[in-house]
Amino acid sequence: TDNKTVYNDIRLGVIGGTGLYQLEGYEKVDEVQPETPWGQSASPIKILRTPRGHHIAFLARHGLNHEFSPSEVPYTANIAALKSIGVQAIVAFSAVGSLQEIIKPGDFVLPNQIIDRTKGIRKDSFFGNGVIAHASFGEPFHKPLKELIYSHRDSVPEITIHKDKVAVSMEGPAFSTRAESNLYRSWGGDIINMTCIPEAKLAREAEIAYQLVCMSTDYDAWRESEEPVTVAEVMKTMTTNAVRAKALLFSILPDLEDKLYTGDKDSIELVKDIRGTMALA
Ligand code: ADE
Repeated sequence: TDNKTVYNDIRLGVIGGTGLYQLEGYEKVDEVQPETPWGQSASPIKILRTPRGHHIAFLARHGLNHEFSPSEVPYTANIAALKSIGVQAIVAFSAVGSLQEIIKPGDFVLPNQIIDRTKGIRKDSFFGNGVIAHASFGEPFHKPLKELIYSHRDSVPEITIHKDKVAVSMEGPAFSTRAESNLYRSWGGDIINMTCIPEAKLAREAEIAYQLVCMSTDYDAWRESEEPVTVAEVMKTMTTNAVRAKALLFSILPDLEDKLYTGDKDSIELVKDIRGTMALA
């Protein structure tokens, strides 16, 4: 049936974070919320048709009305649901605080590393219960995907994009103290958010190529000359950032489509190195 063709054809997933709850400008073909062994995703997944006729999936990480706090997001269901409809690569957007002067509010960052400061209360693995496997996570993001995105840095002139930065992922919901913010700087942290662990880890276990696109909203709490970050500050910058995120996506999409939707699903060059990154004990 037509539906089957649609669902067999989805290779790219986009996850929207705080401030990015939908992608306008693409034809919505369907909306699905598959039941996974880990429950249902935070929001229905929108199946969108790109101008070139390919189908992509869009998921709002925190739910359409931001119902799930960073600690409550059903990360396992989100990733499992995208996997179940065929997604092979995810471009995930996230609001972040900046731990470095040169990363200004409104700048975008493609991190290549993560320091996990979550508290271990989130389900961060699909394994266990008799399934014993260990994913490689030394490089937590997907380099070819990152480089593809970075190669479009000049196509949206209003965005400054930094790459190969270190993301600190903390539990929240409260922001960090000044002392913590300075500690993360001393560790080499460049940006801070509340969601990339476990999302990046689960994507790796699911063998999905994953790159986080961070949108800086504030200078966290380390700058002595400034008041520490507030939600109002984050939301103010996010409105502009959401417009920029959509412009960036629009710019990288044709390139991504060339690399992901050409040819046989099982032999996609861009993502093939992600497979087999698991060691079974
Ligand atoms: N998301 C946006 N800004 C943040 C900050 N300063 N700390 C943690 N998560 C954030």
